[in-house]
Amino acid sequence: MTTQPDWAAFRALFPTLKHKTYLASGSYGLLAAPVEAAFLRYLDDRLEKGVDWGGWGERQEAVRGAVAGLLNAQEDEIAVTTSASAGINSLASALSFDGPRNKVVVSNLEFPTGAQIWHAQTSRGAVVEHAPEAADGTVPLEHFDRLIDERTRLVQITHVCYRNGARIDVEGVVKLAHARGALVLLDAFQSAGTIDIDVAALGVDFAVGGMLKYLLGTAGVGYLYVAQRHIQALTPTVSGWFAQADIGAMDIFANTPSPTARRFETGTPPVPNCYAAEAGIGLIRGIGVPAIEARIRDLTGTAMDRLAAVGCTLATPRDDAQRGPQVAVRAKDAAAMTERLAERGVVVSWREDKVRAMFHAYNDGSDIDALVEGLMANRDLLA
Ligand SMILES: Cc1ncc(COP(=O)(O)O)c(C=O)c1O
Repeated sequence: MTTQPDWAAFRALFPTLKHKTYLASGSYGLLAAPVEAAFLRYLDDRLEKGVDWGGWGERQEAVRGAVAGLLNAQEDEIAVTTSASAGINSLASALSFDGPRNKVVVSNLEFPTGAQIWHAQTSRGAVVEHAPEAADGTVPLEHFDRLIDERTRLVQITHVCYRNGARIDVEGVVKLAHARGALVLLDAFQSAGTIDIDVAALGVDFAVGGMLKYLLGTAGVGYLYVAQRHIQALTPTVSGWFAQADIGAMDIFANTPSPTARRFETGTPPVPNCYAAEAGIGLIRGIGVPAIEARIRDLTGTAMDRLAAVGCTLATPRDDAQRGPQVAVRAKDAAAMTERLAERGVVVSWREDKVRAMFHAYNDGSDIDALVEGLMANRDLLA
């Protein structure tokens, strides 16, 4: 029998939970005491040493290793970036769109950045086509099937949609795309840390994300995964001294990209953020993503069943395989509902006509109670 993690002890690491019901982890994950301590360690190191390039490099490498472990990638396949956008931009800069394969297919579940950057490539010859969502809020494989063809260079898919929590069939899309010679970029921002991701098994070519949400780190640090089989053939034109084969070479007469995914980095790493990211991902890996995934699935499933029972209209698919850590509830005025809940100490967020309750493993049944009670107390605002 496997022993269950001590969820009460995990919850106790997050001081905010003493005075808030926090269901906004898909916006910003809570600060854990060990992550706060990591930030303080950075300040102590600054005060003690001033400059510490060696130590800072070690922190960045620790983040690279932690992300590789999290995604089942090799360390050489991970670039440590400052945001998901930075990673997508670097990748886009390495792709050419001046031949017959100039199409980029993006799902309509993407976060804006994951579509805007590809639209920005239209000036370089790219043609962007969108795979629309169906009435149930998912993007079925048929919608990709219609668009992915021999002209498609890349397909951008989000693992879990930031608006409604719906999940895309990654393996299905990869199969379709690869059969037609197209690459797949997975945006794992809303899933990594809460869904067990194995980039090698999924077969995705690239993956991006950041550390401020479910990975319990902070803003200003992210990652790009580039499968080993693609690294040598891709030379980003978004570059810099930290992207070079030898960072210390200080060669101003050539661009000599690193043989690893570090070629997708640019300048000085986000040092303080690396301290926090290492600690945050450490917490996630310490418990293990499968256990976190199972707990969140139970919490969100219970929340959905209770919300449906009291008459809420859910925008998130109920099927466990089609959703992630978010439960989206339709409202007549989602902004006003979010404010009313905040007045009761219940922190959620909203997009369009949906109130988003985004769970992490530090949540428990009392948070579901507070959410249901808060929504019921303001049922005039529900759709
Ligand atoms: C799915 C998803 N992708 C990308 C982003 C944006 O990433 P960044 O601001 O790091 O570029 C977010 C949210 O902030 C997101 O939820």
